[in-house]
Amino acid sequence: MKVLGIETSCDETAAAVVENGITILSNVVASSSDIHNKTGGVIPEIAAREQIKYIIPVIDKATAGNGISFTDIDCIAITVGPGLIGSLLVGVETAKTLAVLLNKPIVPINHVRAHIYANWLNQPALPEFPAIALVVSGGHTELFLMQSHEEIIWVGGTLDDAAGEAFDKTARLLELGGYPGGPAIASYADKKHGTSLFRFPRPMIASKDLNFSFSGLKAAVLREVVKLKKENQFGENEIIHLAHETQEAITDVLTKKTLSAAEKFNVKSILLGGGVAANKRLKQKLQDALNQSSLHAVLYVPPTQFCTDNASYIASYGYFHNSPIDFTAVQAKPDLEVEV
Ligand code: KG4
Ligand code: ZN
Repeated sequence: MKVLGIETSCDETAAAVVENGITILSNVVASSSDIHNKTGGVIPEIAAREQIKYIIPVIDKATAGNGISFTDIDCIAITVGPGLIGSLLVGVETAKTLAVLLNKPIVPINHVRAHIYANWLNQPALPEFPAIALVVSGGHTELFLMQSHEEIIWVGGTLDDAAGEAFDKTARLLELGGYPGGPAIASYADKKHGTSLFRFPRPMIASKDLNFSFSGLKAAVLREVVKLKKENQFGENEIIHLAHETQEAITDVLTKKTLSAAEKFNVKSILLGGGVAANKRLKQKLQDALNQSSLHAVLYVPPTQFCTDNASYIASYGYFHNSPIDFTAVQAKPDLEVEV
């Protein structure tokens, strides 16, 4: 079965054709992040306007541009939420129009849950169940227990800021420039030498539940930056150390909670998804923690281009959860819950 996935929840306009949920036949992403880079964050109105500009060319490139005719498509999978309403509407209404004109079934997709399916794409070996999945993106930090494709249970998440948001906001405090901030924090952190100059809290690391909290970390960084500026000591070396300690704090908490969940449910696979999964330190810490545990599990970290927003995992999710609904019932849902 060939599924055309369409994704427009934020500042990426993406379309992909995936066969049987695992083989990518095409994967096209246009991004307006260069514009948001200049303003230091996504401006919803501008993101929506850029979606309108890109949507038809991106779908055309993912299909005709890759020698795939619309008649070859069996189903359309469309992100309906969560996300920015203006951006979502562009993809949803385009997908509905295609479904009606081409007489194809259409499946509404939860963007956050779909991130998990980057782990099924172009893999030599597929993940085994039960699995624990950590979805870490700009807007979400969620842990899911997967007993099967049909049974994906939310087991924990952030109580305030998402991990990606913590990276982005800290990057802004450290004046690293641009959006997203995660890659900038990571590359500054890599430059660190010597003993750490700072120590930030690891929020909720010892709590018994599987929830997270990152807003206190941002406040701790702000306090330090204000103090350093007052003392005229906010220089390159301090920024490197602050970036390093921020990355250490975030990745320590993510690693601890994910391993706790993996042990609690005695899983066979640990899956990462979302933009923060591109973080090398997170991957390294998770692998080290897994090696030191008594678990016989495999850690899956998809290549970065499948972790950040694109439509291949939307199409994959649409294959494994192939429950089409009438096109009139497909609606953009900016506040779509991930817990259900
Ligand atoms: O999944 P994604 O592309 O978009 C959302 O659905 O939010 O995730 C974007 C997030 C941003 O917060 C960005 O700073 C973060 O992923 N990110 C990283 C890295 N690359 C992207 N965070 C830490 N380290 C990275 N290397
Ligand atoms: Zn995302």
